[in-house]
Amino acid sequence: MQLTVARNRTDLVNARGQGEVALVPTMGALHEGHRSLIREARARAGHVVVSIFVNPLQFAPGEDFSRYPRTFDADLEVCRAEGVDVVFAPSAEDMYRPDRQVSVHAGRMGEIVEGASRPGHFDGVLTVVLKLFNLVQPDVAVFGQKDAQQLALIRRMVADLDLPVEIVGAPTVREADGLALSSRNRYLSADDRQAALILSRALRAGAVELTPSKIRAAAQAVLDEAGPALSVDYLALVDPGTFEEAGEAFKGEAVLAVAARVGATRLIDNVVLTLDG
Ligand code: PAF
Repeated sequence: MQLTVARNRTDLVNARGQGEVALVPTMGALHEGHRSLIREARARAGHVVVSIFVNPLQFAPGEDFSRYPRTFDADLEVCRAEGVDVVFAPSAEDMYRPDRQVSVHAGRMGEIVEGASRPGHFDGVLTVVLKLFNLVQPDVAVFGQKDAQQLALIRRMVADLDLPVEIVGAPTVREADGLALSSRNRYLSADDRQAALILSRALRAGAVELTPSKIRAAAQAVLDEAGPALSVDYLALVDPGTFEEAGEAFKGEAVLAVAARVGATRLIDNVVLTLDG
């Protein structure tokens, strides 16, 4: 099977496939986690499109947009090996008109937890994801559970705006020692990487407890051991549909989410738990 690389929207139209189309939106720097998303897409559709676009709209000034890893040739090898049909890799000029005005506003869920730390981030994510849906016209789109709030917001956008696409969430892929795979792990020194393991340890410690207060306390106790190598941004136990904090009587699935800075690198991680109330 031949991989087609579409560098602009005209190429993409020319590469349009027959039958069910699955889209895996990415910013490149593909790793084993992305491979699992691509496999999930392949299991659901005959034609798989991977988009590779480092979206300037979702980075605030001072964030890592300019140094975000760009590994296009290696990404194409991953896509070839995984049997992807089309890689859509537009330029920023092709994606965004210079006089663009209209964008998606994520609403309250975009302003809390991760959104409180990164104002405007989710508006940028939803705007590019909606554009990708319109350009690729997928039947199915696959996103990682690793970005739990992003996944929840995309589901919300699809419901609120009646978008004709099925959203599939795929489990977080971890290293053997628990570190969640992320393109940003490339920034970590050996010492940073060691410190970063505290995030997944904290989530595991929380996950064995049964009530919201005990879950938060157990995870916080591990984070407190970290010392100055780790600067915690938030630890939150939330309703996965709204990202509002789960109260003590909360029942059902909840997300325990954490964000921290390790050296110059900001990392996020989460686990899904079930609370019996
Ligand atoms: O998760 C990501 O890599 C990005 O936020 C996405 C969904 C590709 C939008 O730019």
